[in-house]
Amino acid sequence: MSRPPEPLPAPPAGRWAATGYAALHVLLFVPVVLTFVLVKVSAVLVVVWVGILLLAGVLPAMRGLVGLHRGIAARVLGTPLASPYRPLPGGLLRDLHVRATDPMTWRELLWMLWAMTFGFVASLLAVVLFLGVVTWPLWWYGVGPLMRARATVDRAVLTVGRTERLEKRVRALTESRAVVVDHSAAELRRIERDLHDGPQARLAAVSLSLGLADDLFETDPEAARRLVNEARGTSSAALGELRDVVRGIHPPVLADRGLTGAVSALAIDMAVPVELALDLPDRLPAPVESAVYFAVAECLANTAKHAAADQSWVSLRHDGRVLRAEVGDDGRGGADPRSGSGLPGVAARLAAFDGIMSVSSPPGGPTVVSWEVPCAPSA
Ligand SMILES: Nc1ncnc2c1ncn2[C@@H]1O[C@H](COP(=O)(O)OP(=O)(O)OP(=O)(O)O)[C@@H](O)[C@H]1O
Ligand SMILES: [Mg+2]
Repeated sequence: MSRPPEPLPAPPAGRWAATGYAALHVLLFVPVVLTFVLVKVSAVLVVVWVGILLLAGVLPAMRGLVGLHRGIAARVLGTPLASPYRPLPGGLLRDLHVRATDPMTWRELLWMLWAMTFGFVASLLAVVLFLGVVTWPLWWYGVGPLMRARATVDRAVLTVGRTERLEKRVRALTESRAVVVDHSAAELRRIERDLHDGPQARLAAVSLSLGLADDLFETDPEAARRLVNEARGTSSAALGELRDVVRGIHPPVLADRGLTGAVSALAIDMAVPVELALDLPDRLPAPVESAVYFAVAECLANTAKHAAADQSWVSLRHDGRVLRAEVGDDGRGGADPRSGSGLPGVAARLAAFDGIMSVSSPPGGPTVVSWEVPCAPSA
């Protein structure tokens, strides 16, 4: 649910920076060779078990080292490179199994061969051209293209290919579909329970009272009138409860006033002051509006219930492609999506639209729940 922030795109590295990175490559040559040898030796020793322990230590070190090179390639090219690994389940053997079967591990080994040979020569050349005074014009014109070429190969080998990206996407979609199906089933059960315990019980009472009144009309009109009055009271209560159920499915205020109006209405109802920053197009697709509305409502309800805050804020912005939202408070912190059903419910609703939620709530606060939902404005 939570995820690291996206790296920001930066301009490609200039000559000086590219030379600095080339020097770093040269310095990292020995660690790369050592790691490569260690991985190979550990892999051979797996047959006598010690290799398993060795691999458990060496593979994370390899990831760290390769990650450093991935970062350098990203900086040289000025494009962020996403982390390509499969998530680790936890536990020494299970982590080791996932790492060993992750196609990226094999790519990394392949990449090391390149980094120890042609890649190394390219970086060394960049440094040598810089150091040799006569070769300066060559360095001046050559270092940029040379280092970009090396970084392009690094990127091609160290990031996931199309098939792996698609596999990852299918996995994510399968997971989010399961969560959404679960969530919808739970929502249906909740609505069923609300209808059963509320309006259905009351309407049964109304029908009973009216039946009794019908019997008493001739003999005891006073008692019959009392029963009819009672039935009227009960039917208004049933109506109120039906309204609540409807509001829980699709709040009328959302249909009437859109997300901006509906969220403003939520803020007005809060005892804690809420600072609003809403910058949204007129309308977004109705299901997204509804999911975001319930998300804001849940977070504000949490602020009121758990935070003991003096101030809270809601920010909703849409840049034409993605809706970015944040609900925060200056309260005591400690929000934990694993300990309740409200925040997981929000994440499940948002996942249906490829939305991602993250929660930051250190002890002592502040609590910030933020999410991003890709969506285009609706006409
Ligand atoms: N704004 C907040 N400040 C401090 N603690 C919070 C905040 N929001 C949530 N929490 C903590 O995180 C837990 C999980 O929140 P969540 O909304 O998932 O469940 P809940 O509010 O306890 O129950 P539910 O939402 O199902 O009625 C809460 O029990 C509370 O302890
Ligand atoms: Mg809650």
